[in-house]
Amino acid sequence: MRSRATLFGHAIHPMLIVFPVGLLTTAVIFDVIQIFTDNPRWGDVSFGMISAGLIGGLAAALFGVIDWFGIPKGTRAKRIGLFHGFGNSFVLLLFGMSWFSRLLAPSTPSPMAIGLGVVGVILIGVTGWLGGELIARLGVSVDEGAHVNSPSSLSGQPASAVDAATRRQRA
Ligand code: HEM
Repeated sequence: MRSRATLFGHAIHPMLIVFPVGLLTTAVIFDVIQIFTDNPRWGDVSFGMISAGLIGGLAAALFGVIDWFGIPKGTRAKRIGLFHGFGNSFVLLLFGMSWFSRLLAPSTPSPMAIGLGVVGVILIGVTGWLGGELIARLGVSVDEGAHVNSPSSLSGQPASAVDAATRRQRA
């Protein structure tokens, strides 16, 4: 099924999720480096990454919700999407609490602030898998009839058609 929110034929949500997944995970890695090096610079960088990751996560979540409403009711995809969406909302809440608790001293995050991030990243692993299940297994945001010789998403032709170069090859 095709996504509701697309750009140049592709779902926008998967384009945006790289920000929260990449930035929030790297923030936790930098927190761990800060613990071992005791260099406050890492805490500052981690705080910056969490700020950007939260903004990216909210933007990604918006397009995720738009796509979720396009999934037919009563399907496994609808249920998995709900778990995925609520799980990621909780991830953003955990990092939001971590961000807030660092506000007064970003370069020296408390064990609780770091712990909230660690739990958040473990949860992203689970919710990310659910997101992958939505696409790879349940076909959400995959065009009807898509196959290895489908014409370009920009061609205006259905995915079930065969692209011109392949047709020529077979001729
Ligand atoms: C921080 C927030 C979020 C992250 C990190 C995230 C992550 C992901 C990932 C990793 C995928 C699979 C992408 C792929 O395999 O290419 C995905 C797909 C998906 N996610 Fe999320 N997600 C987030 C929030 C949400 C929310 C709030 C919803 C709403 C229910 C949602 C709905 C979906 C849907 C419907 C898909 C299937 C692809 C699509 O139609 O766009 N996501 N997400």
